[in-house]
Amino acid sequence: MAGKIPQTFIDDLLNRIDIVDVIDARVPLKKAGSLYKACCPFHSEKTPSFVVTPSRQTYHCFGCGAHGTALGFLMEYEHRSYPEAIEELAASIGLEVPREGGAAPRRDDRNDALYPLMERAADWYQQQLRKHPDAERAVAYLKQRGLSGEIAAEYGIGFAPNDWHGLDNAFDEAKEPWITAGMFIKRDDGKVYDRFRDRVMFPIRDRRGRVIAFGGRTLGDDKAKYLNSPETPIFHKGHELYGLFELRKAVRDPRRVLVVEGYMDVVALAQFGIRNAVATLGTATTREHLDTLYRVVDEVVFCFDGDNAGRQAAWRALENVFPVMQDGRQARFLFLPEGEDPDTLVRKEGKEAFEARVEKSKALSDYFFGALGDQVDLDSIDGRARLAELARPHLEKLPVGLFRELMLERLSQLVRFNTTALRDRMQTPARQDDAPRRRVTAAPTQTPVRKAISILLHDPATARKLDQVPELGDLDVPGLPLLVELLGMAWREPQLKSGVLLERFREHADFQALQRLARWEPEGHMNAALGDELRDIVAGLDRRRIKQDIDRLSNAQRALSPAEKDELRTLMQALNQSRTGARLSTD
Ligand code: UTP
Ligand code: MN
Repeated sequence: MAGKIPQTFIDDLLNRIDIVDVIDARVPLKKAGSLYKACCPFHSEKTPSFVVTPSRQTYHCFGCGAHGTALGFLMEYEHRSYPEAIEELAASIGLEVPREGGAAPRRDDRNDALYPLMERAADWYQQQLRKHPDAERAVAYLKQRGLSGEIAAEYGIGFAPNDWHGLDNAFDEAKEPWITAGMFIKRDDGKVYDRFRDRVMFPIRDRRGRVIAFGGRTLGDDKAKYLNSPETPIFHKGHELYGLFELRKAVRDPRRVLVVEGYMDVVALAQFGIRNAVATLGTATTREHLDTLYRVVDEVVFCFDGDNAGRQAAWRALENVFPVMQDGRQARFLFLPEGEDPDTLVRKEGKEAFEARVEKSKALSDYFFGALGDQVDLDSIDGRARLAELARPHLEKLPVGLFRELMLERLSQLVRFNTTALRDRMQTPARQDDAPRRRVTAAPTQTPVRKAISILLHDPATARKLDQVPELGDLDVPGLPLLVELLGMAWREPQLKSGVLLERFREHADFQALQRLARWEPEGHMNAALGDELRDIVAGLDRRRIKQDIDRLSNAQRALSPAEKDELRTLMQALNQSRTGARLSTD
């Protein structure tokens, strides 16, 4: 895990981007005076009640209460995590996201030491493929599998000799980092040995081209046909895709990416000029994989064996792909004839035939409704009702948008039931964390502190109505510390945009509560009076604080010191002044 993203960077980022651009690129907005409007993407409606306010850098839906910042929008609409949303915004204006110091970078330093080790190991394996006395077997194996020398070199394929201490003897130095990198295995007696022996070695690179792991195919009859590096500080299977770096080097702007199952499939396809394949590393396709892929292309084609296992894997991929199917993205499914994989098929049929199969692969919608349709009898009412029930939990996962609407329409044709009624039965997509989604904005009970926070979040400049931020600190009122913190920030930085202020509290324990309060909107045109209302609330709280102090001193079961008597006098004066002030201002 990388370190924390500095708050100053997030502030700066939010000041440099415009929420109008961010949202307009996803939900086209119409200008209406100083605001922008659209039909709300978070609930279904016919007249626009979704409003984006550039001066505050927030959006707000008067229909369903959805509210938030540019970051919040990406999180809700694209199902991004918070750091992902930051990365995406930053990338959109060409900024690199910095990470804060502390414990994390030290760990990164340690990680940094692992990359050169892996690079050296990869070089060494490649050398062994050329020079080792036993290399002939490996070379013969690769030849027999039809691999050209060029492709083997491009993918950095190597050979791990059948030696318990091959790599170990080649690099006679500290063992510890090699163990961390997964290259050596440590025995109970402290001795180490090479993890990979007698295998053809496939280096796995990260997106920047650094070797981070290996996959090794046995040359013999080892039960484990493939052995992969374990999870290490620099290698996380669920994130990495074999061949992605090589793909991006070979094809500048790929139209689509094929996801296949094996190393050999990627390499064989590349040899036949099909340069856009990547492989997961013996795992199902994860959300992280998909996020990575859809950052590179709009169309992903999943290739599966035509057998039962292949069909199961396809369905798992489908389940993971639904939540990321924003408009403009496509997913297709290619089922290969039984007993074939892309490696064997492309060698048998050649490039054109294989590409023709890709062209004819099933669209996500056809695969989905086809697979569900096979389970029911569409000629009967019961069967159609069952189909609607089977489809619903999946469709609910689709992001709001045209694609979702079209899928609903397709379902409605299949089950012969109208789209609106089907839509009404569905939930809007839940966030990634599956937090229950707000339906109606149940307004929290209004208290002065909550009202003051709402006002500040609505318009931080209202804080300037106060001459100073009073010391309310030791007053025992729920939410007060939060109010004091907000007040301090808004007072010191009156130009602060509402959205920027809110984002500063993203990791705060009470962020959810703050976000609810941020949803509050003043009625009519009472904006001008908000500053006065805030000032009155704060003055009222200040009076309570003064009274509390007066009570504390006058209830003391002992004689007061001269200093305490002074303090009491000052407090009484302050209370009187404040009362007069309050009377004047409410007159
Ligand atoms: P396959 O069994 O389909 O192998 O495994 P393959 O790629 O067709 O291999 P060849 O053609 O016999 O050489 C697909 C992928 O599953 C993982 C590997 O990532 C492999 O590429 N796998 C498979 C393992 O991790 N371990 C295994 O023992 C087998
Ligand atoms: Mn194979």
